[in-house]
Parts: sequence; structure tokens; C-alpha cells
Amino acid sequence: MTHDSRNNSRNNPRHDCRFMRALRREPVDRTPMWMMRQAGRYLPEYRATRARAGDFMTLAGTPELACEVTLQPIQRFGFDAAILFSDILILPHEMGLGLGFTPGEGPKFERTVRDVATIDALPRPDPNQACGYVMDAVRLIRRELPEGTPLIGFAGSPWTVGTYIIEGGSSRDFKHAKALLMEQPEAAERLMMHLAESTADYLLAQVEAGADALMLFDSWGGVLSPAHFQRYSLASMARIVERLREAAPEIPVILFAKGCGQHLEAMAATGCQALGLDWTSSLGEARRRVGDRVALQGNLDPVVLTTSPKVIEQATRDVLDDYGPGAGHIFNLGHGITPEVPTEHVEVLVETVRRYGRH
Ligand code: CP3
Repeated sequence: MTHDSRNNSRNNPRHDCRFMRALRREPVDRTPMWMMRQAGRYLPEYRATRARAGDFMTLAGTPELACEVTLQPIQRFGFDAAILFSDILILPHEMGLGLGFTPGEGPKFERTVRDVATIDALPRPDPNQACGYVMDAVRLIRRELPEGTPLIGFAGSPWTVGTYIIEGGSSRDFKHAKALLMEQPEAAERLMMHLAESTADYLLAQVEAGADALMLFDSWGGVLSPAHFQRYSLASMARIVERLREAAPEIPVILFAKGCGQHLEAMAATGCQALGLDWTSSLGEARRRVGDRVALQGNLDPVVLTTSPKVIEQATRDVLDDYGPGAGHIFNLGHGITPEVPTEHVEVLVETVRRYGRH
């Protein structure tokens, strides 16, 4: 059975919901919404499950717990889509690089990837073997989700995952990662393409396990020069989209490249179905540029959620007005929600989209 026939859109109730319709730029009764990092530390129930797990890797590595936290924001707020609880760094971890999270310090890899020999020795994991617990989580979530709530699978872009494995963790200046592109362009290209093939395998396994839509996070595309963005980040994302289009044409793909508003046309040309926008781009202007080719997702500045109900309501209405009437918009934040946001503030956001986002 192909991915296509199994997830055949129109007879699958999950594929006729607001979120999937908006991705196809079909009419909806109101603008669908979800939030990046919706399962996270701002939720007391997440903190409780996380404490039970002990650490992030156990939480993400235990299908029952990953399923539990994936469902929490759906149960509390009734978002129009769920996103798999996992991390973009799980795939490189399962390439043998040894990921760990130290509280307050962010991700750290035991081994870095900075030279040709290490790049050429990187394995291409079989996702169902190496990341079997992720696929088990997808199957479990899919079973437990309310009828009509689709599940988003995801991965990091090759460049963004590349920055973490080259640097060995988070970075401010991306010195080692950029130096690799500048000094060893062919090796860097091989690394990006290796990550692209492995990531496409990984995303297709998520589709096979039950993901209804896919999202690629290029959190650090915006730190590259335009030429480097095109050669390393965009080219490798385009390869992933090409593999997905070939093997799972019914599954929509959202590309989110933070700080890349200048590249919207080039990203839309990859053949993806939607672009995620951060708050530094205008949704209305983006719609005029690429709205005839892709749906748009975004783009409230997450800092708005730390302010007051009045400011949140107005800023949310401004985002909806900026896109304007008609199909093709999925409301979201422009980046992940931060831990200090009160849940009452999220309620204001949700209520505002429900009321003001009616079509
Ligand atoms: O709810 C969801 O959005 C789904 C789960 C999800 C997580 N990470 C869970 C997580 C998703 C989609 C991600 C993506 C991710 N991870 C990105 C791309 C998006 C972005 O934010 O730019 C990146 C760059 C990462 C890497 C990563 N993971 C970092 C830098 C950190 C530590 C910093 C932090 O926020 O604590 C993580 C850990 C992580 N991944 C947490 C969560 C909920 C926090 C872990 C905890 O509970 O302590």
C-alpha cells in the first residue's frame, strides 16, 4: 500500500478538517490554529509528566509519555492540530552522536562532526530500527487523538541540525558550522545531502506510522548569507520535499525558515504546500508574493503572550487582519512559546482566534 492510498485525503476525516483544508487553501469556517512548542514547560501538566520522566530524553524516548504530553495542549485548548512530541536532535542522536540535555544549558552532543572523515562515516539510520520509539509514539498518538485532529510529524532542516552537530550544541555565532561551509564547501554539501536523505527516510517513516502533515524547522537559516542559504539550506530542504512529493504526494509539507522572509519565493518553488513565517515578515505582503502557490502559517511574536490580555487580543486580531479574508492561513506563533507564559494568556489567544477568525 502506498502512503497515498492509506492517507487518501477526502475519505479520511482527519484530512477534511480546518487545518488540512487550509493547507490545501480550501475554504474553512474559521482560521485553524496551533502553537509551536505547544507541548512544553508553560503547561503545569507538562512539567508534571516531565518530572515523572526525570529528563527530556526519557520523556521523548517513552512512547506512552510522549503521547501523553502531545495530547495535553489538545485536551486543554482544543487546538486544530497536534504536533508529535519529540525533538529535531533525535535523528542525529540516533546517528550515534550522543545527545544529552543538561538543565539550563540546552542540548550537547558528545561527538562533533567537523571533518571529512567524520562526515563520510555518518550512518544513514533505518528510522524504524534506530528511531522505532518515535514511530511507536506516532502510532499511539494517532490512536488516542480525537477524531478529526490531525497529527504533524516533523524534523529539523539539514542546515539547522548541522549547526548543532558541527558546533556540538547551541551556538551564538555558528563559527565552526559557517567555517565548514566556507572552507570545505564540497564536504559541507555532502553533509547537507546526507542529512537530507536521512531526514526524508525519517519523515516518510512518520507518515507510514500515521503522521497527517509534515513540518521542517530551519531555525537557523536566517544566519546565512543569501548565497549560502540557497546552496546549503534551501537545496537540502528542496531535496527532502522532492523525496516526500515522490513517495507521499498527499501529505502536505510546511517549511519554516526563521528570519528568511527574503527567500519566500525560492522556498515556495520547492513544491512545499505551506510556509511558516516569523513576525519579521508581514503575512499580507507574503500572501501577495506567494499566496497563489502556498498556504501561510504564523506569525504572532511569542513575546506578545507575556504581556496583557488586552495587548494579546489586539495583536492577535492584527495578525488575522494582516492575512485578510479568505483561505490559506493557519494561525500560529512566529516561533515557540516560552516557558513563562501564563496559560490564561494562551486562553485569550485561542478565544480571540475562535471569535475573530470566523470566515
Ligand atoms: O510542541 C512541540 O512543538 C513539539 C515538540 C518540539 C520540541 N522541540 C520539544 C522540546 C519541537 C517541534 C522541537 C523543535 C526544536 N528543537 C527546534 C526547532 C524549533 C525552534 O524552536 O527553533 C530546535 C532548534 C530544537 C533544539 C532544542 N530542543 C533546544 C535548543 C532545546 C533546549 C532549549 C529549550 O527550549 O529548553 C530543546 C529541548 C526541548 N525540545 C524542549 C521541548 C519541550 C524543552 C525540554 C524540557 O522540557 O526541558
